[in-house]
Amino acid sequence: MSKSARGKRFGLDDLRKAARAGGAPLAMLTCYDYLTARVLEEAGIRMLLVGDSAANVILGHDSTIPVPLSFMIELTAAVRRGAPQSLVLADMPFGTCATVSQGVKNCLRMVKLTGCDGVKIECSRGHIELVQALADSGVAVVAHLGLTPQSVGLLGGYKVQGRTASDAMKVFDLAGDLMNAGAAALLLEATPPEVARLITQTLDVPVIGCGAGPDCHAHVVVLSDLVGMTESSPKFAPRLGDLPSVIASSARRYAADIASGKYPGKAHHYDMPADERQVLRDEAKGYGLDI
Ligand code: KIV
Repeated sequence: MSKSARGKRFGLDDLRKAARAGGAPLAMLTCYDYLTARVLEEAGIRMLLVGDSAANVILGHDSTIPVPLSFMIELTAAVRRGAPQSLVLADMPFGTCATVSQGVKNCLRMVKLTGCDGVKIECSRGHIELVQALADSGVAVVAHLGLTPQSVGLLGGYKVQGRTASDAMKVFDLAGDLMNAGAAALLLEATPPEVARLITQTLDVPVIGCGAGPDCHAHVVVLSDLVGMTESSPKFAPRLGDLPSVIASSARRYAADIASGKYPGKAHHYDMPADERQVLRDEAKGYGLDI
């Protein structure tokens, strides 16, 4: 398909327009590879997040902390190639945005090497200056707040945030300050719906919810949870598919077909031209073989 036939890429400006128009919320999913990105784009999912949840679902770690920047760059570039018309966001892994200069350098590297549309950064108050510096450099930042899994050590576990009125106000104040610093969108994870309601009704910035109730402009969950690949998933993540049973039944059938001699069959063979086959047969006869 030609580039023009595919149409315009869905961008953060489209998300902003949709948020302002107040229509139905949009769907975003995490994605980590080229082929899946193709499937999701074909399915009409216009926003993909290359989450650092790759640490868990691709690499098998029990937290997001260990995933390297170089790995996230490779995954993001692959997703970009698979979904050229979708909004692709890259998650900045733990330790890559600890200071303003380090954060600017690493985010510019991510954008330049992958062609992603923006970066997602898990934010605390200490990141406001970085968000401003990135916006000044032309980098679209999605500021992740609420539960920020990279701070699991500080938070004392994966806990719902903003459950008391004063904690909710802290999240709300940070959201406003990040918007004023130039964040292109906010991603709000694991907060009661009232927090998102407060933000969406007062601030002019798209809010992507991840377990933040129905009032967000878009919602994101980890694809591996959605398709049932993970052992367990957070309460807010729907499990709508059963990919493990598709993989397991194909694998069992493949093994059974090999054992029974059904695979590989004639349809799977590469043919030899008849004259070449005859020459080879004659050669083999010299070794006492009948092939
Ligand atoms: O890494 C990730 O997948 C995320 C989403 C769950 C928001 O940050």
